[in-house]
Amino acid sequence: MRFDIITIFPTLFDSFLNESLIKKSVDKKINRFLIHDLRKWAKGKHHQVDDRPFGGGAGMVLMAEPIIKALKHISIKALKHKNKITNNKQQITNNKTLTILLSPAGKQFNQKMAEKFSKYDQIIFICGRYEGIDARVEKFVDEKISIGPYVLNGGEVAAMVMIEAVARLQPGFVGNCESLKEESFNNDKKEYPQYTRPEVLAVNNKKMKVPPVLMSGDHKKIKEWREKNSKK
Ligand code: ADE
Repeated sequence: MRFDIITIFPTLFDSFLNESLIKKSVDKKINRFLIHDLRKWAKGKHHQVDDRPFGGGAGMVLMAEPIIKALKHISIKALKHKNKITNNKQQITNNKTLTILLSPAGKQFNQKMAEKFSKYDQIIFICGRYEGIDARVEKFVDEKISIGPYVLNGGEVAAMVMIEAVARLQPGFVGNCESLKEESFNNDKKEYPQYTRPEVLAVNNKKMKVPPVLMSGDHKKIKEWREKNSKK
């Protein structure tokens, strides 16, 4: 799957994309990440990407023009006007690009959305700044998404959260398929408590023991214990 990220802070993504399983998925050609510095599409020698809001008010607003130009560059399909796309069923089925604007005012992200989004060939993320983004950009996006009911400085961290949730659902991402299967089997259940060595942990003169059933080797009893201890 291809991920395109439009941001004014491209280096924020460096270590996120160059560590652990995300990096391995790039090496295995399961995922591709392209970071686009919005200033590349800005006018003037200062590469200005924001300006004061019409009508007054505090803060600066990200300008629509550089973002629309960036989208045009990244995907011609993404430029299709939202209304045109909904009026043309043929285009919906062929449209494998999803354009997402990260915003605290968007629909709240969840695992079901992650699964739906993981079926696309390409996702373009537009990272807004908390002060705002020219509303005309919304005509060029498919979804406006928030990662939770709180306000961040911008969409970058939110994009990373969504990328991790979607990228790990790509076939071959998780070495051990069992863990993903178990996860979807668990569905809305929270996971059961897990333990690893040592069997007895001494902290502040107290001994913290692993539940004996997990040391019993009795797989049926272990399964029952895990089901009982999974919280909804
Ligand atoms: N930008 C600022 N806050 C955000 C949030 N909660 N989700 C997505 N983008 C954001």
